[in-house]
Amino acid sequence: MGPDDLRIWLNHFEYHAQHARQIPACLSDELTAEERRCIAGSIATFQLGEQSEGGTLRRAAERFARSHDMPSLVRIVELFIREEQRHAALLCAFMQDHGIALKSRDWTDRVFRGVRRLAGLELYLSVFICAELIGKVYYRALEAATACQRLKVLCRVLVCEELAHVGFESQLLLALRARRPAPLRALVRLAHRTFFLGTAAVVWLTHRAVLRCAGYNARSFLRSCRAQYAFYLEPPAIGVAHTPA
Ligand SMILES: [Fe+2]
Ligand SMILES: [Fe+2]
Repeated sequence: MGPDDLRIWLNHFEYHAQHARQIPACLSDELTAEERRCIAGSIATFQLGEQSEGGTLRRAAERFARSHDMPSLVRIVELFIREEQRHAALLCAFMQDHGIALKSRDWTDRVFRGVRRLAGLELYLSVFICAELIGKVYYRALEAATACQRLKVLCRVLVCEELAHVGFESQLLLALRARRPAPLRALVRLAHRTFFLGTAAVVWLTHRAVLRCAGYNARSFLRSCRAQYAFYLEPPAIGVAHTPA
């Protein structure tokens, strides 16, 4: 990732820090009892996942930026963390308005945070991008699973911002991987794809009520997740048409 790429991402995150996407107050905000029952536990887990002080990521980015002479990376990561915190706040406000209990712990969240603390920026991003890619599929499903206009628009805002997040993370991750020798790169790719599919399977098992409401079964959900992964992390050679599912 060169200085021009970093400047583009910095401009993107600075712009959106100044012009945060809003959820209009005039939208209808009714959630049926059945919808609430279906989404409550699931949305609480995702809200917990969006919450982060960002300390581990900030420190990893600072170390990496120092050793690779990429000072703007620290500011990009700072703005990126703030967007994630805003996602958590938007979901929290929605949940509180609808009497949905917040979670303070969840085993899947603990596992993800634990693995991310293990090493430097590359491992952090490798784990984090799995949650982000699956989150994109999940928030689209949540939008389809409800008739509540506020929740629908909230999901669209989250997906829109996650699009940029995974764009940034995947570009940085592929640049980091490209520096490795080819055999090691292939091994890392295989391990990462396996971890990703395992994570997607766990998300299916733990959030299938919402995903089923959106019309998914296990096979189609995993196919959608896999398509996201392929689009961002296994890009084809330039000139070959390729679109995500
Ligand atoms: Fe997010
Ligand atoms: Fe994100």
